[in-house]
Amino acid sequence: MKKLSLLLVIVTAVVGIITACGTQGKKNRIGTANADVLVVAISADFPPYEYVEKNQYKGIDVEIAEAIGEKLGVEVQVKDMKFSTILGAVASGKVDVGISGISITELRKKQVDFSQAYTTTVQTIIVKEDSVIREASDLFRFGKYRRVGVQTGTTGDLYCTDDIELEGLGRVERYNEGEDAIKALVAGKIDCVVIDQEPAREFVKRNQGLKVLETAYAEEEYSVAIKKGNKRLTKHINQALEQLKNEGTIQKIVDKYINESKEED
Ligand code: ARG
Repeated sequence: MKKLSLLLVIVTAVVGIITACGTQGKKNRIGTANADVLVVAISADFPPYEYVEKNQYKGIDVEIAEAIGEKLGVEVQVKDMKFSTILGAVASGKVDVGISGISITELRKKQVDFSQAYTTTVQTIIVKEDSVIREASDLFRFGKYRRVGVQTGTTGDLYCTDDIELEGLGRVERYNEGEDAIKALVAGKIDCVVIDQEPAREFVKRNQGLKVLETAYAEEEYSVAIKKGNKRLTKHINQALEQLKNEGTIQKIVDKYINESKEED
């Protein structure tokens, strides 16, 4: 009798474990944590890619996330967080992906996997209209000691830390949001802000007396960040992006938010 009940316990446990593996432990069809939902991390401080308007998340990345969700047949759930925490959230599985103007870098590839790129950008420099900084190279002159504002954890932060701070050419001031750096620039606390081109243009539009320099600092590609080793999800996201590109959907979304910059001649 004793033996029988022990056997029963073991059988129940084994069946339990197998069932658990089937539902959660084993990855589902597309490799998300929940079969019906794609949880997307954004940092909604980055117009026109992600921002809040009338209590709603809007922007190019939000629409691309939704379009990917549609292709995968899942609901998209947006989680707004500080930019500097997104890659960690992806790496730990707290979210399925990060779609937040995230630029591909070799260093980041050690922490997460990247989908194919869905668009390109450049790092630009914002200064006051009367600034002595006229081109990117003006940031790298010895003896000038520039104070450069960036959003914490962005590529702007990484580049300026390497090229300016560690070279002894100036100081990098890090802010939670790009717009905080802009405020510091307007207040004269820093000499320039290094940030991606389209947000730079938006912020300059909203603030008097600022301009974006013509010369770019660096060229980059935006991509979807996925947990390292999650080949299934990467494959599905890449397939979805491929279809969205071929259909012209990505271009349509980008054009909806960025139009005046497409000068014809
Ligand atoms: N492209 C830059 C990077 O990858 C900045 C992205 C900032 N994104 C945001 N939603 N604030 O670091």
